[in-house]
Amino acid sequence: MKSIRCDVLNSSVEKVDSLSDIKIDKNSIWVCDENSEKYVPCNVNKIVLPSGEVGKTYHSVGKIIEFAIKNNLGRDDYFIGVGGGVICDITAFSASIYMRGTNLILAPTTLLAMVDASLGGKTAIDLYDLKNLVGTFYPAQKIYLNFNSLKSLSDKEFHNGLGEILKHSLLSIEQTLYLFLIKNKDKILNRDTKILEEVVYLSLLVKKEFIENDPTENREIRQALNLGHTFAHGLEIVGKFNTFSHGEAVVWGMMRALEVGVALKITPLELAVKFGKLLKMYNYNVDYLIEDKETFFETIRHDKKKRSGETLFVLVKAQGEIVQKPLDQQTISDAIASQKFSLAAQISS
Ligand SMILES: NC(=O)c1ccc[n+]([C@@H]2O[C@H](COP(=O)([O-])OP(=O)(O)OC[C@H]3O[C@@H](n4cnc5c(N)ncnc54)[C@H](O)[C@@H]3O)[C@@H](O)[C@H]2O)c1
Repeated sequence: MKSIRCDVLNSSVEKVDSLSDIKIDKNSIWVCDENSEKYVPCNVNKIVLPSGEVGKTYHSVGKIIEFAIKNNLGRDDYFIGVGGGVICDITAFSASIYMRGTNLILAPTTLLAMVDASLGGKTAIDLYDLKNLVGTFYPAQKIYLNFNSLKSLSDKEFHNGLGEILKHSLLSIEQTLYLFLIKNKDKILNRDTKILEEVVYLSLLVKKEFIENDPTENREIRQALNLGHTFAHGLEIVGKFNTFSHGEAVVWGMMRALEVGVALKITPLELAVKFGKLLKMYNYNVDYLIEDKETFFETIRHDKKKRSGETLFVLVKAQGEIVQKPLDQQTISDAIASQKFSLAAQISS
């Protein structure tokens, strides 16, 4: 994989064969969880946190900071996060507030963290049961990708990250990532390392483009990356976060956004069919119908992606071109709980 430089964040992404290859000339602490610990080099100052979203708390931040103090970390020393999106987010958040900011390196070990959480500068913890309520913008200077770590991911976690890659393909004006996904489906699903390096690289280039044009999400450009997410959040809550991974929910949400876009004459039918086929090709359950509409609507009402009290949905005008719109209750209901807008017939033909 070629390295990537994101100047606006002063971040760079590089491939490594092992994290032992990273040269640090300063003091450092390494943060991981029990599943990513095996990728942390021996003989470093390491703190192992509980895995999963339950660990994304202020309590974990307290433990990281206590560990940093115990190891005499100064402002010019390093916090190094090795793990999935949770470890990346809490390590980065802790680095951003420790002595008003220390050096930060991230080594994402899940596919989702490689293509999404590690690049972009967003840090967060959950508070009062609200996801990502508290956070900062604090980009990692270096992001190291060790593709060997993807071998130990479960299929569910793998598809979690793949969902974001599929999303990036629709958000890119270029055809490169889309064509790569079509051509290399079997190799990607079989986790061929060389092919994964390429698909992660292409996917990161798409994310980088959005970040560079809107680094702190103030220009309504970076919000395109929320495609599928408002629908997805409702589905995740309905499934109590057990049934669908985030990436699976995002793919389902993208399908709803495409169908609604066609129904409202925003998305060209051919485009919706083209990407609907891609999503199905990667074996996602895109036709799921929601029974518990009440919970779904309650979630949408509290969605963070609100402007002037209205929840906005990202819809697609053309490949790489989005529009944000509020949707009325009937349209949402038709999209999530009936087959009224379904593209299934066109996709299978
Ligand atoms: N900052 C951002 O821009 C951004 C973007 C997207 C997501 N996120 C955040 O990322 C989090 C989700 O990330 P995630 O899906 O990586 O979740 P995660 O960090 O909880 O990892 C998922 C599971 O995989 C395990 N794991 C990690 N590496 C592994 C490996 N190599 N082999 C086997 N198991 C491994 C973890 O221990 C965990 O159990 C959420 O909290 C989300 O809010 C942040």
